Amino acid sequence: MCGIVGAVAQRNIVPVLIEGLRRLEYRGYDSCGVAIVTAAGPQRMRSVARVAELEDQVREARFEGVTGIAHTRWATHGAPTVNNAHPIFSRDALAIVHNGIIENYESLRETLRGKGYEFVSQTDTEVIAHLIHSLYQGDLFAAVREAVQQLAGAYAIGVVHKDQPHTVVGARAGSPLVVGHGEGGNFIASDALAIAGSAKSISYLEEGDVCEVTLEGVRIVDRAGNPAERVARDVQAYSGAVELGPYRHYMQKEIFEQPRAISDTIPADAAFDPVQFGDTAAEVFRGIDSILILACGTSYYAGLTAKYWLESVAKIRTEVEIASEYRYRESVPNPRALVVTISQSGETADTLAALKHAQSLGMEQTLAVCNVATSAMVRLTSLRFLTHAGREIGVASTKAFTTQLVGLFILAVTLGKLRGHVSAQQEDAYLKALRHLPAALNGVLALEPQIIAWSQEFARKENALFLGRGLHYPIALEGALKLKEISYIHAEAYPAGELKHGPLALVTEAMPVVTVAPNDALLEKLKSNMQEVRARGGELYVFADADTHIASEEGIHVIRMPEHYGLLSPILHVVPLQLLAYHTACTRGTDVDKPRNLAKSVTVE
Ligand code: AGP
Repeated sequence: MCGIVGAVAQRNIVPVLIEGLRRLEYRGYDSCGVAIVTAAGPQRMRSVARVAELEDQVREARFEGVTGIAHTRWATHGAPTVNNAHPIFSRDALAIVHNGIIENYESLRETLRGKGYEFVSQTDTEVIAHLIHSLYQGDLFAAVREAVQQLAGAYAIGVVHKDQPHTVVGARAGSPLVVGHGEGGNFIASDALAIAGSAKSISYLEEGDVCEVTLEGVRIVDRAGNPAERVARDVQAYSGAVELGPYRHYMQKEIFEQPRAISDTIPADAAFDPVQFGDTAAEVFRGIDSILILACGTSYYAGLTAKYWLESVAKIRTEVEIASEYRYRESVPNPRALVVTISQSGETADTLAALKHAQSLGMEQTLAVCNVATSAMVRLTSLRFLTHAGREIGVASTKAFTTQLVGLFILAVTLGKLRGHVSAQQEDAYLKALRHLPAALNGVLALEPQIIAWSQEFARKENALFLGRGLHYPIALEGALKLKEISYIHAEAYPAGELKHGPLALVTEAMPVVTVAPNDALLEKLKSNMQEVRARGGELYVFADADTHIASEEGIHVIRMPEHYGLLSPILHVVPLQLLAYHTACTRGTDVDKPRNLAKSVTVE
């Protein structure tokens, strides 16, 4: 998703801006650009290649300045061309970078055309540039404040004007923006990472805030125009690019980091104590009668898995909703429900909006399961469980998913205990199983060579079906998402019992059918579903447990998981599916860590 960096300093800030863009690269982008302010007007350089290419351009042109803004763009309105890349200009006087989507851009464009403004890009951003320009009367801060009142939709912006050569103005609503306080310079950025080191401390802007960043300091006003104090927090020095080590891609590295990530996520002691979720958690947990989980993508599948645990272990009614649907649906709010949001980044626009929607409906008990302690989501909820996956660079989520599952399982057992459904003996058994997970995962990772052999077959396919039942249906969904996301093979997942209600029509010799087949209560049913596939000539690729009696034979390929893992089995069974997608994508030669059209952190609707 788009990333913003802006700086005002006493020295050349272009290297700081470029370094900021480099650190935002992980979010996904398709073009980038940088502008500096000169007395003749803003000057810019833009590229549809990587930030490294922009850096070469900048170096060759000796492009330097003390005030500037920079951007990585993930195209929404208009193709990823140089002409649509930010910074976007208005009449060679003003430059803007923007993250978000302006919903009323068409009507604004017509009004501005009426005032003689010409549009040279297909972006919605250009209307903001011209709007601010049309309102400018010598005070950029005032013009931006007036302009944002006319915008509908989501935005974080950075703006410079030729007549104010030592000023960057920022504003946010719906998309994140931080201001950074440094020595000899001040900054704005989409996230703290981009300016860590240059900025010693950062402040998170709140919804509707507008800021003015100059050499002297930072001025912030809230939506109503009142001066606003935003806490300045120390920002940790940038720890450097994450090293790839012996791995080919970050995704592979992150798959192999899962034993460590899970072990870091399991609390050292009193794992099922409500205090893990916050000081008031025990009281909140006692007062709730149900759970509503809101999330997107892979995090949504973690929620679907958690539903099984919450209902079977804690006996608490649980609903799981796709955040982008929930936010626009007329629903029946339950003030006694605990709203649980799940997110790797904590910045996903749809999940944040769904959370705010639930809060606006009177659902005040909220909990975030999140990997980023400083994210908007963690700041918005009263309770939280932080996963310790570490930075996840690959767009395809892997270690974030399995650590979310760990957090959600801990939530289920904690609630179960509190509600009198988990005995001391069961608690002990759950804790032992959790603590043994890293070792069990190492056993699963050792299956990689067998999975590589399968991936050679998969790389030649254009379609695949994934089947699972019960607790493992969400794992089948996640396996299908991983495969389509990075290998571009069309993949669908079904609860195996649904096969004969439609998808069986797709099954031919050309259709590989991946089956997640743990040795659980539904195994015999699943075996019948597998027979239905074989009878139609479908080729089965089965991930079975060590003690599952399914043998390899013609048309049935079996990989055995090292051990059967009961309720926590989804955390093990998803790993071979991650590896299958990864190696299939490698064989097909796709850009595994940055799959086409996708972004790591989806900060627009
Ligand atoms: C996962 O592989 C995806 N790239 C995507 O579905 C992701 O899980 C989704 O966008 C939600 O992101 P979040 O966890 O940061 O909220």
